[in-house]
Amino acid sequence: MSKNEKLPIRQISNKYVVIGEISIINGMISSLIARNHATTRGGIILKFFKLFLFLISCAAMIAIVVYFVSDKGTPTNGSNDGINQEDNLSNDDPSTNNEPDDDNVSSNNGNNIGNGSEQEEPTTSEPTETPVTTSDPIETESPTAEVNTDAESVAVMVNPNYKLPEDYSPKDLVYPDVRFTFNEKIDKRKMRQAAATALEEMFAAAEVDGIYLAGVSAYRSHETQKALFNRYVERDGYEKAKTYSAEPGTSEHETGLAIDISGSTGKCAAEDCFAGTVEAIWLANNAAEYGFIIRYPEGKEDITGYKYEPWHLRFVGVEIAKEIESEGLTLEEYYKVVPTKK
Ligand code: DAL
Ligand code: ZN
Repeated sequence: MSKNEKLPIRQISNKYVVIGEISIINGMISSLIARNHATTRGGIILKFFKLFLFLISCAAMIAIVVYFVSDKGTPTNGSNDGINQEDNLSNDDPSTNNEPDDDNVSSNNGNNIGNGSEQEEPTTSEPTETPVTTSDPIETESPTAEVNTDAESVAVMVNPNYKLPEDYSPKDLVYPDVRFTFNEKIDKRKMRQAAATALEEMFAAAEVDGIYLAGVSAYRSHETQKALFNRYVERDGYEKAKTYSAEPGTSEHETGLAIDISGSTGKCAAEDCFAGTVEAIWLANNAAEYGFIIRYPEGKEDITGYKYEPWHLRFVGVEIAKEIESEGLTLEEYYKVVPTKK
């Protein structure tokens, strides 16, 4: 804009300089004619030349007047708004997520989760209200970490902007041989093979350090996540529910690569009071060695879209986990797909 405004001003200045120069030359010619050549042949030529210069001066003056009277030399690039237009993509309509409750929660595996041990219970502290940004997630090309959207990959990106295929269900779910806060062999005990093996190693290493971990909730089917999320919406409303629970199709629990972990007593399982416990600290310090990350870290709520969950671990593989941990990143930052828009 400023670049465009400077150009005509410089042109006008140049015209004044030209007129000034012409006037000086005219003056010099007049004095020559007056002094020596008023009636000679050369003098007559000089008179014509003087007239010519006078006409040029007039033309320049007229050009300047026309410039000021007309449209100030508006730059030719048309619209000078220069303001990015807001993307009009509408937010997800909450109503579309309030599908009728199915009874998967109560019927799921015959193991009622009504005692709340599975849920990411909202606590007494006010959940972080995630600012809803109107901008789209920014995807920046990165030679080392192009966002992975392959649901079969352990490094897949799943968040409100990166949904799983509607009919996705992992094919290699197994029961990891670790302690859980319940005894039943049910879905929420399952993980994908690679994650399960890493989990076993991590729990064993923790025990060597005197830390006794327990699984709280691992795999959830799409239907279970839907029933769970709907229940939270009923209880807390849509806006609040989505700060701590993922909409169906966007939960990492549906991948079989995520697990909520507590201490072996189950105290503070999936609750804010888990933060700062010896188990939480051990996990934060050691999980990357086994390919897990604390997926929703403290202070990154605006990036992940979720409140701090020190209990929610996500398997991404050792290499990525170590890089994320050492750089202090979230998975969104690693893939350069921030902020998360809900
Ligand atoms: N609590 C996390 C966000 C989930 O529901 O997947
Ligand atoms: Zn979780």
